[in-house]
Amino acid sequence: MRLFVAVAFNSATKEKISELCEGMSKSGVAGNFTPKDNLHLTLKFLGEVESARVAAVKSALDSAVTNINPFTLQSGNSGFFTSRSEKTIWLGLAGEGLTVLYTLAGAVDISLCKTGFEPERRAFTPHITLARRAVFDTGILESVKAPEFEFTVNSVTLFESRRDAGRLWYKPAYISKMSK
Ligand code: 2AM
Repeated sequence: MRLFVAVAFNSATKEKISELCEGMSKSGVAGNFTPKDNLHLTLKFLGEVESARVAAVKSALDSAVTNINPFTLQSGNSGFFTSRSEKTIWLGLAGEGLTVLYTLAGAVDISLCKTGFEPERRAFTPHITLARRAVFDTGILESVKAPEFEFTVNSVTLFESRRDAGRLWYKPAYISKMSK
């Protein structure tokens, strides 16, 4: 199964992020916008994992969050990555909790390495993907006002990425809660 570890959002947070996607779309940004239910903040992508290893992945996540207390993140600015001439639009994060988010992503990576997964080679770049294969005029992103909101991170979720009847969706396979 295809797995990744992410911060999941509650419906109020998904609603706020979705408002931003709608604002971009109305301003003329075209692309594959992430469906509201699929919005998440990736901490570690695992790719194909044999089912026999899933129990170890769950324990690794429990170990990773052991010494991390819940923290709060604020919405940041939007921006985009360009890879092989395709643009991916994202929403960034802000606030003091960002330091803890980096610690959390590092702890997840280290813990999974101990169970035999490859260490992350790329630097962690916290972002929420809003649209893939985006097409837009330069400057348009700054013109769309990002809603300001904050949310608390008190767990990490192991997601299974599935494609059923052509629809991509992310099924929570396990939730590892922080202690407090
Ligand atoms: P992205 O948001 O930066 O595209 C589920 O597919 C999540 O895992 C996505 O949020 C995606 O991050 C990330 N992901 C998918 N394929 C990946 C890969 N090959 N390497 C790293 N991250 C990947």
